[in-house]
Amino acid sequence: MKEKIEDLEKRIAEAKLGGGEKRIESQHKKGKLTARERIHFLLDEGSFEEIGMLVTHRSTLFGLDEQKFYGDGVITGYGTINGRLVYVFSQDFTVLGGSLAEAHAEKICKVMDLAMKNGAPVIGLNDSGGARIQEGVVSLGGYADIFYRNTLASGVIPQISAIMGPCAGGAVYSPALTDFIMMVENTSYMFVTGPNVVKTVTHEEVTSEELGGASAHSTKSGVTHFTAQNEIDAINQLKKLMSYIPQNCEEDAPALPYEAGDEVRTVLNDIIPENPNQPYDIREVISGVIDADSFYEVHKDYAENIVVGFARLAGRSIGIVANQPAVLAGVLDIESSKKGARFVRFCDAFNIPLLVFEDVPGFLPGTDQEWNAIITNGAKLLYAFSEATVPRITVITRKAYGGAYDVMNSKHIGADMNYAWPSAEIAVMGAKGAAEIIFKKEIASADDSEAKWKEKEQEYADEFAHPYRAAARGYIDEVIKPEATREKLIKAFKMLENKADKLPKKKHGNIPL
Ligand code: HXC
Repeated sequence: MKEKIEDLEKRIAEAKLGGGEKRIESQHKKGKLTARERIHFLLDEGSFEEIGMLVTHRSTLFGLDEQKFYGDGVITGYGTINGRLVYVFSQDFTVLGGSLAEAHAEKICKVMDLAMKNGAPVIGLNDSGGARIQEGVVSLGGYADIFYRNTLASGVIPQISAIMGPCAGGAVYSPALTDFIMMVENTSYMFVTGPNVVKTVTHEEVTSEELGGASAHSTKSGVTHFTAQNEIDAINQLKKLMSYIPQNCEEDAPALPYEAGDEVRTVLNDIIPENPNQPYDIREVISGVIDADSFYEVHKDYAENIVVGFARLAGRSIGIVANQPAVLAGVLDIESSKKGARFVRFCDAFNIPLLVFEDVPGFLPGTDQEWNAIITNGAKLLYAFSEATVPRITVITRKAYGGAYDVMNSKHIGADMNYAWPSAEIAVMGAKGAAEIIFKKEIASADDSEAKWKEKEQEYADEFAHPYRAAARGYIDEVIKPEATREKLIKAFKMLENKADKLPKKKHGNIPL
């Protein structure tokens, strides 16, 4: 037995070395951790249980028979984060560049299947050169097996992807099917085809960083939801993200202990400028309402005219969607509609109540928007809110104009509680534009058309630039002082705690993709 145990220990030691010391050194030199180190920092100490450590590939082609490594380039298993079960796979770039083929894929599928059966999140730490070229179609099949599982698991268990190295080809599509992507600045890349292929096909000269670095995907494409300065920062952010979300679609997110106190926040009374055209930062409203320092912004640098993210209110996890008057006056456009819709759907899938702060002058006009389908894309946000069955509350801080009034979680599309501040203006459009259209002839024929316009603008503003017409109809449940917002929201979310709402029976809806 002693010899057999020694043999086992030898194999385990070999497995733990991955692609060998030289490659580990090269990984470290690039400022990257190894696959095992990442797991070590991610999970609670001593909680990791590895599955399939001694798996190897069975390919013999192109010299692979002489390049067999225990684990086949991915470390898989389960453990806990703050005591909560998670399944993990961590690709090992030191083994054949973390490339994915049959055995590697089977290992990932095994933990995904366990995660589905046991209702716990899957976190993928990706660092892979894509499909293992030597194994051909078997590698493609392996990817498709994972994509299929990603899709079936979507909305059942949270799936989170961290990109911690180059991720090319198939390596990007599994993360794209998951709920959240985190990229590490300067050491991670995502692209379907790399700079060389781009140069051959389109003659564009572009670096990996420009094409698919964290900056490109957090600002231009919106592919990544979060960026991190380094791998440790990324891992810490993954743990933070986990603290806001539940284990699966049947459960609630964990709540922090909360002691009720004075919930009046007078700071909120002074945020809205006197001039309705002056911008302000909606994050000031958010931080004035939520539990201290609890906002974790999603898609922070993308479509900044809408702000979305997780927060806590009286210890409970909520999802916030807020127009941002400080960027493009908070207008809704294609990107912000998509960003908002995606976040709303995640929250709804995982029982996270939604809080909306609304200050929106409408949808962005123009050929660029129309030709790129603002109609279809704006409808995504409308659809996402309309089908959400979680508790939903809206606070209109200032403008709620036009179609955007309807879209931003209005009473009409199923919001549970709708509040407005006294500064709210709820109308088809701003008074100036409205006067110009409906009093066009009168203004044109007036001796002093400028003065007439002003007079008519004031007339329209008196009628609509306030929340009281909407309140009179019950579209607004209560006009509240800004300082009372936190208290009202805590009470209303508590009141909605046991909300049970169902969509009509269907196979699935047909969101305007
Ligand atoms: C097999 C691979 C590999 C791959 C890298 N390696 N990618 N082996 N299949 N796809 C191996 C290298 O041979 C090398 O082995 C080791 O990993 C490290 O690679 P380097 O090139 O030395 O590293 P680096 O300079 O950091 O470059 C990393 C890289 C580059 C950017 C990922 O290796 C690369 O471009 N790889 C190919 C990417 C790609 O085209 N993949 C296929 C995509 S098609 P040694 O032994 O020297 O350590 C695809 C289709 C799926 O994925 C579609 C599904 C929808």
